Amino acid sequence: MFINKDNKLNTLKKWIENSNYTVIFTGAGMSTESGIPDFRSKDGLWKGIDPMRVACVDALITNYNLFYEFYKQRIENLEKSNPHKGYDILSNWERKGLISSVITQNVDGFHQRAGNKRVYPLHGSINTFRCSRCGQSASKDNFINKDSCIKCGGTLRPDVVLFGEALPQDILNNAIKEIQKSELVIVIGTSLMVYPVNSLPSMSKGKKVYINKEIYQQSFDLDLEGKAGEILEAVNQQLN
Ligand code: APR
Repeated sequence: MFINKDNKLNTLKKWIENSNYTVIFTGAGMSTESGIPDFRSKDGLWKGIDPMRVACVDALITNYNLFYEFYKQRIENLEKSNPHKGYDILSNWERKGLISSVITQNVDGFHQRAGNKRVYPLHGSINTFRCSRCGQSASKDNFINKDSCIKCGGTLRPDVVLFGEALPQDILNNAIKEIQKSELVIVIGTSLMVYPVNSLPSMSKGKKVYINKEIYQQSFDLDLEGKAGEILEAVNQQLN
């Protein structure tokens, strides 16, 4: 039976109201309406660049200039971008007690900038930096200016989790605890292609909702095809 979008929005609104523990799970599709490209859409970052050449440990060691240019361009794009309305809505929902936490694959820090307090950034942050050799912290200017580490002279890197690196164990463990407590998980703007993070939503015993421009996963209780910001705004209007 075809369920139209209005019914789906109303269903999601009811599920949010009736859930005692709602967890939001986001990916790069949550930031495209802020002007930040995602990775696997037709105009995503990985359409023009091989991630294994720029976003992995090997690139950091053997091809620092390419690694540096890739992250410099993302950092400068981020400086011109701001969290869109959908982020503000999620921040209000946390303040009102409608959601308990946000688990994100994104490194832009937009959930925190929009005011969410309980955020689990599983892939780290592009807004903080460290020495790739000794771990000494460094500033964004140090990285952009291609300074060497003040302590050991090593090269600098953003605190993002590169392909081939382990996720931050404490954040991952806490995110899994959130999912295990959840009665409702709302997955927004992710292709769910990257392991192990993509296995988290299915760990929930609660209802699972998928908000995405392309619906290619059928393992959800409810899916809403479309733009994250627009759908969040439509649900928010029903909640008010
Ligand atoms: N609203 C809803 N969905 C959107 C929007 C939007 N405005 N824009 C894009 N999307 C969808 C795309 O259709 C795509 O399915 O968001 C999804 C983004 O998927 P990816 O580009 O694969 O991003 P993500 O799932 O976050 O990637 C996971 O891969 O490269 C690594 O570390 C990187 O954290 C990233 C991880």
